[in-house]
Amino acid sequence: MGRVYVFDHPLIQHKLTYIRDVNTGTKDFRELTDEVAALMAFEITRDLPLEDVKVQTPIMETTSKVISGKKLGLVPILRAGLGMVDGILKLIPAAKVGHVGLYRDPETLKPVEYYVKLPADVEEREFIVIDPMLATGGSAVEAINSLKNRGVKNIKMMCLIAAPEGVSLLQEAHPDVDIYIAALDEKLNEKGYIIPGLGDAGDRLFGTK
Ligand code: PRP
Ligand code: URA
Repeated sequence: MGRVYVFDHPLIQHKLTYIRDVNTGTKDFRELTDEVAALMAFEITRDLPLEDVKVQTPIMETTSKVISGKKLGLVPILRAGLGMVDGILKLIPAAKVGHVGLYRDPETLKPVEYYVKLPADVEEREFIVIDPMLATGGSAVEAINSLKNRGVKNIKMMCLIAAPEGVSLLQEAHPDVDIYIAALDEKLNEKGYIIPGLGDAGDRLFGTK
C-alpha cells in the first residue's frame, strides 16, 4: 500500500493557512502555492541518491557529493497542477514536464481526460504527479492510469490538501504510489469539495469563476 507523508514543516503549514484563507486574493494565492510547492519539493527529494565526485576548491582537491543522474519528470494535472510546477522547477530545474489534462464533471464528479503529453523517455524517469487537491481521488487515479498505460513505472503523487476518501481510492488503485501532502483534511462535502479545504484550486489560482 502506498505510504502517506504529511509535510509538517512550520513554513509549509504557515503558508498553507494563508492559502486556505478566503480573503487571500489570486496574486497571493499563486505566490504562496508556488512557495509551498518549492518547500515540498525540498522534502520530496530527500531520498535522491548521491554519488561522490572530485572537486578542486581554492585550497585543495576533495571528494564531495552530487545527485547521481536520476532523471525526474513532473506531471501537473491541468489546470490547477500548473500552479505548483514553477516552484518545483526552482529546485529541480532539469526535470522534464509532461501534462495530463483532466476536469471533474460537476454532475458525476468523474474525471474527463482531454490532453496527455509526456517526455519521450518515460521508462527511465521517476515522475511526480502534481495536483493541489486530492478530493475523491478520481483525477489522480485516472492521471496515473494514463501514465502507466504509456510505460511510466515509478510515480509519486504530490498535493497540497487531501481528503481521506481520495487517499483511500488512490491507495487501492495504485498501491505502488506514495502520496506526499501538506495536509490531510476531514472529509468531502456533498459537492465533492474538501472540507475545510481551500475551495476550488483552479479558480483561485487563475481568478476564474
Ligand atoms: C480539481 C483539482 C483536481 C480535482 C480533484 O480540478 O485540481 O484535479 O479537482 O478532484 P478529485 O480528486 O475528486 O478528482 P478540476 O476538475 O476542478 O479542474 P481544474 O483544475 O481545471 O479547475
Ligand atoms: N477540487 C478543488 O479544486 N477543490 C476541492 O475541494 C475538490 C476538488
